[in-house]
Amino acid sequence: MARLTVNGRAVEFKLDSATPLLWGLRDAANLTGTKYGCGEGDCGACMVLVDGQALRSCLVTLAEVEGREVTTIEGLSADRSHPVQQALVAEQAIQCGFCTPGIVIAAAALLARNSDPSSEDIAEAVPNLCRCGVYPRLTRAIQRAGRVLRRLETISAAPAPGITPEDAARAVPAMAPEKR
Ligand code: FES
Ligand code: FES
Repeated sequence: MARLTVNGRAVEFKLDSATPLLWGLRDAANLTGTKYGCGEGDCGACMVLVDGQALRSCLVTLAEVEGREVTTIEGLSADRSHPVQQALVAEQAIQCGFCTPGIVIAAAALLARNSDPSSEDIAEAVPNLCRCGVYPRLTRAIQRAGRVLRRLETISAAPAPGITPEDAARAVPAMAPEKR
């Protein structure tokens, strides 16, 4: 059992407190934007903010985040308008998108403390693995998001269209009755 705040809401997980935060978020809270990649701390797909710091949720237990404030990709911005999200779209730094939530979290944490990061700063603070190899575009996008945060430019690109759980449910065609 663990009590914490997730995306601004008080949550009590009735799970073994040794359960990784990743599984509490994905399986109990249905916050599936946080991805399971390696489960060993290597890929960064599972990153979430814990009291503003980007952590790998596969390596953190529920007991370790007791009383702390967790922000997942769903809570970072409800309408995908965070400058990192807009810059990733504008720079076309998304391919399959599996790594993207963890990258957005890591980049948002970096820009919150340094809105003018060098490529070396980005490599250090956003070590996430991307199988699609978006790294050069990613660096450009994070630096562009920094310029947006410093009010040096704006991004007019709309965020990528999203699919709500309700939309997804409607998109599933009704099963035809089995023929006998
Ligand atoms: S799933 Fe956590 S670092 Fe890969
Ligand atoms: S965009 Fe495909 S893994 Fe990064």
